[in-house]
Amino acid sequence: MDRSSVAKVGAVASASVCVLLGGALLVQYIFTVKKKTGRKTKIIEMMPEFQKKTVHIKDPKRVEEIICGLIKGGAVKLQVITDFDMTLSRFSNNGKRCPTCHNIIDNCKLITEECRQKLYQLKETYYPIEIDPNLTIEEKYPYMVEWYTKSHTLLVEQRLQKDKFAEIVRESDVILKEGYEIFFDKLNEHNIPVFIFSAGIGDILEEVVRQSSVYHSNVKVVSNFMDFDDNGVLKGFKGELIHVYNKHDGALKSTEYFNQLKDNSNIILLGDSLGDLTMADGVANVENILKVGYLNDKVDELLEKYMDNYDIVLVKDETLDVVNSILQKIM
Ligand code: TMP
Ligand code: MG
Repeated sequence: MDRSSVAKVGAVASASVCVLLGGALLVQYIFTVKKKTGRKTKIIEMMPEFQKKTVHIKDPKRVEEIICGLIKGGAVKLQVITDFDMTLSRFSNNGKRCPTCHNIIDNCKLITEECRQKLYQLKETYYPIEIDPNLTIEEKYPYMVEWYTKSHTLLVEQRLQKDKFAEIVRESDVILKEGYEIFFDKLNEHNIPVFIFSAGIGDILEEVVRQSSVYHSNVKVVSNFMDFDDNGVLKGFKGELIHVYNKHDGALKSTEYFNQLKDNSNIILLGDSLGDLTMADGVANVENILKVGYLNDKVDELLEKYMDNYDIVLVKDETLDVVNSILQKIM
């Protein structure tokens, strides 16, 4: 080997040592930082969906542990309990507010202009109370009962016809969150029970899910269902009222459903209201529960409260990306 070849081999060898040493030092450095800060969040740190600015987590270590528990339990132990309006459906699309199940009727051609104005006025009065950061759930509770009672009475007066619902849903601006096909299809493929627990209107909700082609056999809906007379005209509502802040009671009434799912002790709960946090109260045997909350409105005032109560808070996020990424790890 001539002198220049020896020099080249020497340079390559020393460069390789440097790279190796550098790599080893980097690994050592990350290890030391993690050890010092006590961070153990390998999984969520490596998931790109968690790096988005919309994702807020108060205790990443806890979230990491819950997700590890969900992964370990796999599809057989999992169940999903989710709210509908503004959780599965979008809060806004291209800067425009999207309707709740109730709003689909408020905006439709079946009701009189006078009734529409009354429903809008009710919304103006009661929606600010629903999301008021300075009122407790106990303080809001009676106002929600008042809103639902007045609103449902107005709808009954309109003698709405059931066979028109498909059309009014089709003509509405309702749209499910981006990624809903993957969400529903994957959960169905793996036979994972999905409990949609909504203070909206069940008949409208079902029509939205059906028209989106995701009303699979693993989906169960608990909501306010309408009661129709023999001619298909609305005459009232069935069962006890479900409003935004009494989901705890509704959950406890669904024990028959949850009893059938005794082995599904790992839960992913999705909501957008602080009232949605009690949706899993009917589940007797909870091993791991991951609470994911969409924060759509009054973000500055409510972020801290949401972060105290939801494990993961998604601010103005119109997608199901984070949940889908977790499902992908579980299945
Ligand atoms: P959710 O439980 O699926 O989120 O549905 C409840 C939402 O419906 C809640 O945010 C309040 C809203 N709502 C209306 O938009 N209009 C109404 O008239 C009533 C009574 C409720
Ligand atoms: Mg909601």
